[in-house]
Amino acid sequence: MSLYILDVIYLIASITFVIGLKMLGHPETARRGNLIAAFGMVLAIIGTVALHEGTVSPLIYGLIFGAILLGTVVGWLTAKKVQMTKMPELVSLFNGMGGACAALISLLEYQHNFGNNMAIGVILAGLIIGSVSFSGSMIAFAKLNGTMRGAIRLPSYNILNTIVMVSLVIYAAFILMTGASMFHVYLLFFASLIYGILFVIPIGGADMPVVISLLNSFTGLAAAFAGFLYSNQVMLTGGILVGSAGTILTLVMCKAMNRPLSNVIFGAFGATGAAAAGSEDGKTVKEVSASDLAVLMNYSKKVIIVPGYGLAVAQAQHVIHELESLLEERGVEVSYAIHPVAGRMPGHMNVLLAESNVPYEKLKEMEDVNAEFTNTDVVLVVGANDVVNPAAKSDPASPIYGMPILEVEDAKTIIVNKRSMKPGYAGIQNQLFFHEKTSMFFGDAKKVLTELVTEIKQL
Ligand code: TAP
Repeated sequence: MSLYILDVIYLIASITFVIGLKMLGHPETARRGNLIAAFGMVLAIIGTVALHEGTVSPLIYGLIFGAILLGTVVGWLTAKKVQMTKMPELVSLFNGMGGACAALISLLEYQHNFGNNMAIGVILAGLIIGSVSFSGSMIAFAKLNGTMRGAIRLPSYNILNTIVMVSLVIYAAFILMTGASMFHVYLLFFASLIYGILFVIPIGGADMPVVISLLNSFTGLAAAFAGFLYSNQVMLTGGILVGSAGTILTLVMCKAMNRPLSNVIFGAFGATGAAAAGSEDGKTVKEVSASDLAVLMNYSKKVIIVPGYGLAVAQAQHVIHELESLLEERGVEVSYAIHPVAGRMPGHMNVLLAESNVPYEKLKEMEDVNAEFTNTDVVLVVGANDVVNPAAKSDPASPIYGMPILEVEDAKTIIVNKRSMKPGYAGIQNQLFFHEKTSMFFGDAKKVLTELVTEIKQL
């Protein structure tokens, strides 16, 4: 009877995961979707602990509840404290923990499943994928928080990595076929950890969001293997959902950057060094002051704001909303143009602006807004660079050539806020800054936008 109830609980939990994931697709429903899926997870955990088959000693119960308590407190505090700009790091850390769980389950279960080749195959696959995901996520974390800098490329690293990967598969097949001892399983575990490191170190820090999403799909797959092993439907569903969502997200990001996944994993992206920065063939840029810009914007009919990574860095989401409300009060039509990969993770700008209560209907997707720039008086680009770089359309030699961009150069006046002439993520200079219609509004976004708001209030 209790197992029947557990099946029903797992079914309900699986449904909450699917509904939750669907609701994450829109900022208005995302928070609720997250809570619904979390509720399903709590239900599944309680069900598993309370309705488990066989007897469990008080010590084990103590360990389980102790681990749940510890994990909840650490997870809660970290998630509460984390800044929006640090979110990819947190995701990589949490993802690494998932991979480690899957690998540890495999290490434990190997001895319990001798003779069952099907189960051993699943265990070894979970062990390799989980370990790669764990060590790879830790490297991604270190790269994102700056502990590890740049791409580390060993000689012929592509060939080396392929050899290591194929060796892992052959070694796993050897263990499966010979029923080898735990020593070999531990060796496979360590070799997989090393492969995870080798897999991620050659990839540049800037490509980490794509890598994290890929590793996320690995963790999902490893969890699905564990679910299969335990005939646990909720683990299986959860793993499959994470695995497929991670894969889709990886591909969506690659598509929006117009780069194949192979280019992210094997290729070098982004010029490095000062050559990419500085002025362009002696061309100079025009600057605008806060007071002149206040007048220009106050007397415009239509303004489009283009937020980018710099807005997140400066935490200028509240002041930009204040600016938008102020202009709207004065009869200016204001909206935001959102590029799919603006910022450093999918939906970065939507989440940031939602945090400061910008109405959702003011956020316009790239496909819809591009036609509107021609009848826009002022485009205000705040901390965005690559996503408005016309080289993506006009320069076949550019690393971002082919990436769809926000066509801000069609507007009557272009204002670009950033702190310097340094390039953005792709490491390349932006011709837009030297355009005759463009004026630079230099400074930290939060600081100079606050000055702008003060100036407009005085008009
Ligand atoms: P970027 O091209 O990185 O440009 C951001 C700009 O913000 C920089 O040029 C920087 O210039 C400026 N900035 C930094 N701090 C600032 C501050 N406090 N105040 C004002 N400006 C500041 O960003 P983007 O245009 O949003 O493009 C996103 C890039 O990330 C794309 O290349 C995309 O392919 C890549 N990417 C995105 C994703 C997702 S899913 N979003 C995933 C992977 C890769 P200064 O240093 O001169 O201030």
